Amino acid sequence: MTENSPTNPPPAAHRRRPRYPGKNPRRFEDKYKEHAPARFPETIAKVIASGKTPAGSHRPVMVAEVLDALTPKPRDVVVDCTLGYGGHAQALLQRIQPGGQLIGLDSDPIELPRTEARLRALGFDGSAFRAHRGNFAGLAQRLAGLGLGGADAIFADLGVSSMQIDDPARGFAMKLDGPLDMRMNPHRGQPASLFLQSLSARALADLLAGNSDEPNARLIADALAGKSLTTTTALAAAVRATLPRKAEDELERTVRRVFQAVRIAVNDEFGALEMLLRHLPACLRPGGRVAFLTFHSGEDRRVKKSFEAGLRAGDYAEISPTVTRPSPEECGANPRATSAKLRWARKAA
Ligand SMILES: C[S@@+](CC[C@H](N)C(=O)[O-])C[C@H]1O[C@@H](n2cnc3c(N)ncnc32)[C@H](O)[C@@H]1O
Repeated sequence: MTENSPTNPPPAAHRRRPRYPGKNPRRFEDKYKEHAPARFPETIAKVIASGKTPAGSHRPVMVAEVLDALTPKPRDVVVDCTLGYGGHAQALLQRIQPGGQLIGLDSDPIELPRTEARLRALGFDGSAFRAHRGNFAGLAQRLAGLGLGGADAIFADLGVSSMQIDDPARGFAMKLDGPLDMRMNPHRGQPASLFLQSLSARALADLLAGNSDEPNARLIADALAGKSLTTTTALAAAVRATLPRKAEDELERTVRRVFQAVRIAVNDEFGALEMLLRHLPACLRPGGRVAFLTFHSGEDRRVKKSFEAGLRAGDYAEISPTVTRPSPEECGANPRATSAKLRWARKAA
């Protein structure tokens, strides 16, 4: 056998990591330490202490309050409809052992396998935790397909994860240059660029007003309709150009609302939420509980109305009397928690 035969290949050439400009990495893909939290815990602690979210991760919001609302206990069957990075799932899994099972759903085919691997590495095997790629709109069918009559607790943490927002390649972020995509599942549907181009000015104005209560919907829609905007920064610049006399902070809020409205439409977020809300009571076991974290009024309004209607109809025995907000300490430590609202409901025993 020669030294470099196929069964004894030469050692792989050591590839140097490309250098980033400056002292600290700025670009998402250059933050190699943040992408490997297990190897660089001190870097992660430093980033979190500065109030930021390490690249490629997500900091779960209001975990203690979510656990209080769902009261998970050993042997429970729990569904996390929005698995994300798995922060809430991990806390729920710890509460339902021994004997419990958590079904984790997410529509994102890129992040789901990473989260599944992370939770497996924490010791949650196939009998405790199963990950499924899919839309929570189909929860009822999913549970039936798994042979589960219902769950003891169902949780949804709406919107996008930090992994999705912070990666410019996913096209969600108004401040990071990337393709204008915004799909949680990039293998399905149209990217935001094509979707936007297909809309009439009227349809775009309705979308901006309906999804984000945008006060300048008409003006922005007239300026943007039919335009080819292929990058996130091109969309942000086009929106800014429509309101030249606005102050910087108002301009930033406007761009944020436009991005949010388009993202909601591209992913049919309200359609999926309404479908989930409609089928929830049938997906819960008697006495089962559901909790939602919402991040803007369009989401919270839908959850609140559905819970109130469910209480009137007798589908729920009790609903949260008021909305719960994150503590000032949590908002200070994690500014992304600031707009969160928690609501829960309990099905009759
Ligand atoms: C805010 S993150 C969840 C973070 C998670 N609770 C954690 O602790 O890491 C929201 C997640 O929900 C997913 N998602 C949003 N809408 C969805 C839908 N209709 N069906 C399934 N997953 C959805 C997104 O892909 C994203 O990963």
